[in-house]
Amino acid sequence: MKFSRLFGKSEEPQPPEEPEQPDAEAVADDGAGDGDGFEGVPEGDSDENLDEQWRGRAADVIPGGASTGSKRPAGLYGEGTAFGPTHYTRASGCHITTAGGLTLIDCTMALGSVALGYGDETVTRAVLNAAALGNVAGLSHTSEVDIADRLCDIIPCAEQVRFLKSGAEAVSAAVRIARAYTGKSKVVASGYFGWHDWANDALGIPAGARADVLRVPFDDFAALERACQQAGADLAAILLEPVVEKLPSPEWLAAARRLCDAQGSVLVFDEMKTGFRLRPGGYQEYGSFEPDLAAFGKAMANGFPIAAVVGRAAVMEAAANTWISSTLASEATALAAIAGVLEWHEKTEVCDTLWKTGEEMMGAVNRAIAASGAEGVSVDGIAPMWFLRFDTPARESRFLELALEEDVLFKRGAYNYAAIAHDEQTLIDIEHAASSAFVQLVEETQN
Ligand SMILES: Cc1ncc(COP(=O)(O)O)c(C=O)c1O
Repeated sequence: MKFSRLFGKSEEPQPPEEPEQPDAEAVADDGAGDGDGFEGVPEGDSDENLDEQWRGRAADVIPGGASTGSKRPAGLYGEGTAFGPTHYTRASGCHITTAGGLTLIDCTMALGSVALGYGDETVTRAVLNAAALGNVAGLSHTSEVDIADRLCDIIPCAEQVRFLKSGAEAVSAAVRIARAYTGKSKVVASGYFGWHDWANDALGIPAGARADVLRVPFDDFAALERACQQAGADLAAILLEPVVEKLPSPEWLAAARRLCDAQGSVLVFDEMKTGFRLRPGGYQEYGSFEPDLAAFGKAMANGFPIAAVVGRAAVMEAAANTWISSTLASEATALAAIAGVLEWHEKTEVCDTLWKTGEEMMGAVNRAIAASGAEGVSVDGIAPMWFLRFDTPARESRFLELALEEDVLFKRGAYNYAAIAHDEQTLIDIEHAASSAFVQLVEETQN
């Protein structure tokens, strides 16, 4: 890098220097051995007190203990719980090392944002290279165009793309585009769309911010019709999370399409969890059902911060007539992470593996439940995104605590996510941990 202007030295203009290529291989695999190169911490070297200290430090300086809701202690393990690690220092494959040095198998995969594995070599190398080349500048990086083009090849409804940094932003942008395109206000919505005012009813949000959003339950045909009737000619969009615990019925989606068409409204899918997981193109590819707009994020960049709103060009053009903009929306490291993910999907059938691995995870936990005779718990969801349904929050928390004693982190509520990094040995370990936890839970229930 040249600092001639900064240091006042005059110099002949130079061609750009080849940036030094970072040794991504070393970064991505600094452990020995095969698999995800994770040898773990020798027994006896972990320190639960350290885990507790980090939980305490976080509580002092970060309201709720974490900036991501599901990573707060209450989010991880249940309201009022006082166990379990909350912070990590290293993640590789499907393993995480806690601040106290424990090595855990992670079934949560960072809320589904990682479908390959933590620190994936292909993605890491792409990101490091992009960083070395300068991840932002006064102009847009060519990779913004390149990745947009490639997403249009992969996602059925995508003819144009806008990038943003978070899922909430991408869905908000989809709603803004739908309203700009139709000139209408009302949105009939089913699902979770992030923390923004219009999408949430948390403390601090004025009722007016969501006054034009009519909420309907998942897969409820009658409620969808009623809400659309209520919205009438002012219906800008129907916004659906297409998979919530189960696949949607074709009738529900067909009704959404018909109701949109009747009012000239926009059908939007939030594919945050389903994109690059059920199929690369999300539920719309899996179920052969195209919306007008869709929001993608999470697994699209294997944990790097980027999301996209995509859709039919005629509708997406409205983005140019309203205001959707973020300083770092198209910075190049996260775009490079998408390129790394796309490389994986070109090389191998990632989504087929996620389905198969998820089925094996569900099978393993089902066997553990059956063998222990545990009651009041079932395995639910679909293979790439499944969860444990407990009869009481207290029993769920206790199970999570017992599973941690066996070095496995399960998700409280929905979802556990299959990843490429969950290999055969991991599946065996997951079954063993679940078995021990359920056996202990049954014993405690009987006493
Ligand atoms: C379906 C769906 N939409 C939107 C979001 C919000 O995404 P983010 O947390 O990246 O803002 C999430 C996050 O979990 C999600 O699952």
